[in-house]
Amino acid sequence: MGARVDVAVIGGGPVGLAIAWRCAQQGQRVSVHQSAAGEGAWWASAGMLAPVAEANFGEGELTALLVRSAARWPAFAAELTSLTGHDLGYRSEGTLVVALTSDDLVEVERLMAYQQSLGLPISALRASELREREPTMTPRLRGGALAPADHQVDPRRLVAALQVATARAGVETVAEHVADPSTVDADIMVVAAGCGSAVLTGLPVRPVKGQTLRLKAPGGAPPEFRHVIRGYVGGRQVYLVPRSHGEVVVGATVEERSDSTVTAGAVMELMRDAVDLVPGLAEYELAEVGVGHRPGTPDNAPILGQLPGRPGVVVATGHYRHGIVLTPVTADAIAEMVRTRVDPADLAPFNPGRFSRQREGTVAWS
Ligand code: GLY
Repeated sequence: MGARVDVAVIGGGPVGLAIAWRCAQQGQRVSVHQSAAGEGAWWASAGMLAPVAEANFGEGELTALLVRSAARWPAFAAELTSLTGHDLGYRSEGTLVVALTSDDLVEVERLMAYQQSLGLPISALRASELREREPTMTPRLRGGALAPADHQVDPRRLVAALQVATARAGVETVAEHVADPSTVDADIMVVAAGCGSAVLTGLPVRPVKGQTLRLKAPGGAPPEFRHVIRGYVGGRQVYLVPRSHGEVVVGATVEERSDSTVTAGAVMELMRDAVDLVPGLAEYELAEVGVGHRPGTPDNAPILGQLPGRPGVVVATGHYRHGIVLTPVTADAIAEMVRTRVDPADLAPFNPGRFSRQREGTVAWS
């Protein structure tokens, strides 16, 4: 344990590191406490920045936050790259949403109509127009859409860059698992520990398992498509994220479980759906299967703010499926909160207090 600091951040994933970086930039003495026990959800994550394609019914406040954060991404990436020299793999070709069957197309069109009703940039494309953009997609597609503002970044490169940026900003890294917050000597503790935040705060954060595949194009060539592809395939969903160094990330399962087992069924289903959309992927090397645990919350929205009844404890967790896209806005907001000791009004929907007000009870059955 080091000397007393102004701010101790528990969690060394993208959110924790970005908060530490921003706090250090404001002149605070900062430490990051990172458990040695495995990587967080970011390691398996594909890094989609998808405020539009992931705008779901009934999640308007979350969608507004996703839009705000996605808008900060180009400047955030440019700042990190210019400071560290690291290319984050930020790509802005946009996302194609594609439907394999006519039932899938009904689902895509209904969600797209909702997204358009919010004013989000997404427009319908016919199957022929989709294939003009990505000729290696199957001719069996029924139609889909283009979400041009849904970009991508490589989460592993992001974390590597943030580690350099925090070190250069003077942030101390402490390799320890914090089981008891009272052992951390800091004016303010920021809990950004993903699923590990539940035991530290008592907040309802649960692990939602996701399995992703990493494929490699033959001969080290770039993948045969450039857009992120989000597929609706016979009632299931799959996404394909191409990287310039030849990798394609295929994801992801959404499982209400906390184990880290790689399952044959997940690999089979993800590959089947991926190959249904882009047949050439069958020739790729299956280089890696990753398992991560998204920090899920009862309303699918993050938990950002001061923890009621625990002075000096600030929470930045529960980012569920949106940890990478929400990194810039979370870091800016939490650094501001740490500086001013006031929860920003525009983050009120994400305040931790919402769970003490609305405890889940039993359901009366008569
Ligand atoms: N946002 C993608 C996922 O959670 O799988």
